[in-house]
Order: sequence, then C-alpha cells, then structure tokens
Amino acid sequence: MQLVPFLISLRNLSLNNFCYYLAMVNQNNMYSPLKPFLQSISEPMKRLAFNFEDYIFEKSNGFELGGVITNNELVSENKTSKSHATAYHAVWCRNLRVLFGETRKRTNIQFNNFIDIGSGKGKACLFVHQKYEFEKIIGIEFSPTLIDIAEKNAAQINAKNIVNLNIDACEFTLPNANNFIFLFNPFDDYILNKFLQNNLEHFVEYNSIIAYANDVHWRTLLSFGFEVIFKDNIRKISLFQQMRD
Ligand SMILES: C[S@@+](CC[C@H](N)C(=O)[O-])C[C@H]1O[C@@H](n2cnc3c(N)ncnc32)[C@H](O)[C@@H]1O
Repeated sequence: MQLVPFLISLRNLSLNNFCYYLAMVNQNNMYSPLKPFLQSISEPMKRLAFNFEDYIFEKSNGFELGGVITNNELVSENKTSKSHATAYHAVWCRNLRVLFGETRKRTNIQFNNFIDIGSGKGKACLFVHQKYEFEKIIGIEFSPTLIDIAEKNAAQINAKNIVNLNIDACEFTLPNANNFIFLFNPFDDYILNKFLQNNLEHFVEYNSIIAYANDVHWRTLLSFGFEVIFKDNIRKISLFQQMRD
C-alpha cells in the first residue's frame, strides 16, 4: 500500500509538529492568525486531526499499538485481576498532552518518574519519552503478551529510560520519588482500591500526582483523601493530588 510510506514522508515535513501546534493554539490562549479558523472547525474535524496525529505517531516510529483487546482476551494468570480489568486500548496523544499541560499550569512539582499503571503496548510511555523529561518511565502491565510488545516498541526508538514491568497493579509499590502516575481506566474500583490502599503512605510522603484518563472511578480517589486539581467532564480526564500541610 502506497498510503503508509506517503504519510510517513509527511512527517519529514513536520506534519506531526503541525498537528501539535494546532492543538496547542486551540487548547491554550496562544496567539495565532489561525485561531479563528481553528475555532470555527467542528469537533469531528478536530477529532480527525487528532486521530491522524495518533496514526502518524504509531506508523512513523514503527510501533505496534493498535487494536482493542477485551478483558476476556487478555493473557494473564491472575484470574481475579483479569475479571476486574477493562479492555486494552491505546490512549490518545491529545489526552496525555492536555494532562501534562494542566499539571504544569497547576503545580510546580519536579517529577522524577512517569508511571503508567496498566501500560498495555506502551503508548503512553513512548509518547512521554519523546516529549517530556523524566529520569525513569515505568510501564506496569499484568499481561506478559502486552509487555513483550511494549518492549519491542521501546526497542524501535532505543528508549533506554523506559522500563516495562510485568506485574499486577495490586502488587506494585510506588518508588520513593515524585511520580507522575498515569491511569487510562485500566480496571474497576476493586483493583483501584487495592492499588491506592497499598500506596497510601507514598502519597502522604511524596509530591506525586495521579493523572486519570477516562476517569470512570474518580470518586474512589476522593474517598482516599485525594483532591481534584483539574477535571474535564467532557473529555473525562482529571488530575488528583493528596493535599499535605
Ligand atoms: C485501557 S488500556 C491502557 C493502555 C495504556 N495505558 C495506554 O494508555 O495506551 C488498560 C491496560 O491495563 C492493563 N491492566 C488491567 N488490569 C491490570 C492490573 N490489575 N495490573 C496491571 N495491568 C492491568 C490491561 O491489560 C490494559 O493493557
């Protein structure tokens, strides 16, 4: 098919960066002569542009990120966790970008690590590796099949600071550092409760935040004493922090 090499060649003309620029102009109060045009285009058009950004991100880097894998199809020995898992689906670059932008606006935390809880094929880790500075980027995923794919994806761009760990979120202890913790609705509140319960002391001690995309169980975080520092009810993305004295 000729379309894919053509689209990849467009990246050399910085189309990916152009999409990024359009998004920044649209989301922030950034001046641009294109602003009236951007504001006039309809939501479906914008969605098309963002899907295109995701397509280019995957294809131009040679990643394998696509598809939807239902929780029944996920390969994992942990039957209980499997029954509480959601389907695998890769996050949209746009949502990560908004969550990072809002974090910068609302906090001045110096983060050490980015941690994706339920990292799947590794898209969030790969995107963060290319766009932001972290000492370590950690993917936590209970399916060994997905970890293998995530490892191959990271090798494609020689991303040495990405670590993919095949571990259940229920058993994972957050590292002692300021962590930017990302969840793209990986599981229901049964597992979310266990993860938070095991790591509650961490949030008291460190300046870590939780960025939650498709934030279905956001109220569970409130019940653990987290405060909402940003919430977009339309995109269903939010940021949480434990307030400390
Ligand atoms: C919606 S996908 C998100 C993938 C990735 N975070 C992204 O943004 O592209 C959710 C992922 O969470 C994983 N998952 C579900 N339950 C888990 C658990 N208990 N421990 C670790 N990973 C889990 C699933 O296997 C799936 O890959």
